[in-house]
Amino acid sequence: MKTPQPGILLPLPPLARYLTFLLDDAEHAAGCLRSLAEVADGERTVVGLGRSLLSALAVEIGGLRPFPALAGPGLELPATPAALWIWLRGDDRGEILQRARRIERILAPAFCLEETRDAFQYDGGRDLSGYEDGTENPVGDAAMDAAIVGPDCPQLAGSSFVAVQRWLHDLARFERMPADDRDLCVGRRRQDNEEIDDAPASAHVKRTAQESFTPPAFILRRSMPWAAGNRGGLMFVAFATSFDPFEAQLRRMLGIEDAIVDALFRFTRPQTGAYFWCPAMHAGRLDLSPLRL
Ligand code: HEM
Repeated sequence: MKTPQPGILLPLPPLARYLTFLLDDAEHAAGCLRSLAEVADGERTVVGLGRSLLSALAVEIGGLRPFPALAGPGLELPATPAALWIWLRGDDRGEILQRARRIERILAPAFCLEETRDAFQYDGGRDLSGYEDGTENPVGDAAMDAAIVGPDCPQLAGSSFVAVQRWLHDLARFERMPADDRDLCVGRRRQDNEEIDDAPASAHVKRTAQESFTPPAFILRRSMPWAAGNRGGLMFVAFATSFDPFEAQLRRMLGIEDAIVDALFRFTRPQTGAYFWCPAMHAGRLDLSPLRL
């Protein structure tokens, strides 16, 4: 029986670290992945594979496509693909560091560490802008339906597709905006998280309202704030059964169809953008059988 990597569906941990790797030596990729599967439990260590890695293994996962380099009025989004993405979840920074070092060592024959980014929960689940994040996330069975490929696709059942973007906030700019304007950017009140019914069409929650798309565009967001020095933002992480709902939302945020740009862009921009496929678990281990490993 194939099950999802449990960390995808669990509530956010207090602390996290994101590792992205590039592939250095394709010959050793399969061996390194097998070793990674020994230590990645899918709960505290969630794993996503990128297209360059699958291509090195001469396999294709239907649905794993390149991250789109979309542009909207005055905006251009970066696509920064990587071979491997690892989300280390935990509650002890030292332990996460040791786990990251161990994984880097295991992967070293084939992969080089491209980026390390530390993340955390802020003020009980708020983005660094101060707004609660995740309110309209699907829960329970709906979360499973949105994020995890079902049994009708036996080869990929239990797996998931994840979109990852590192957003850098200009918090000083945001703080200079009047409080009411900040609320209208998001479309919710910071104070009580109430949705503002008559917020402008540019408000983030108006742009992305999942039920307003045809078909509805549900995703499971598992984003966390990140910081390095005095800079920070949101590591946007969204799991789904395909990249269609994420892309539909992103296109709306960019104003591609109606030239209305998401007001979030007034203070934040993505610096990275990548897609990964997260294999299922089988018998307590990452199931690499779709890769013939
Ligand atoms: C810095 C970047 C972002 C920030 C700070 C941010 C913040 C928020 C906040 C505060 C909410 C309202 C509460 C909630 O329902 O979670 C929200 C909702 C939402 N966001 Fe974002 N978000 C960001 C990027 C994105 C991106 C890139 C997407 C997808 C392409 C997205 C999709 C959504 C969706 C689907 C909702 C729920 C809408 C609904 O159905 O009501 N967000 N976001």
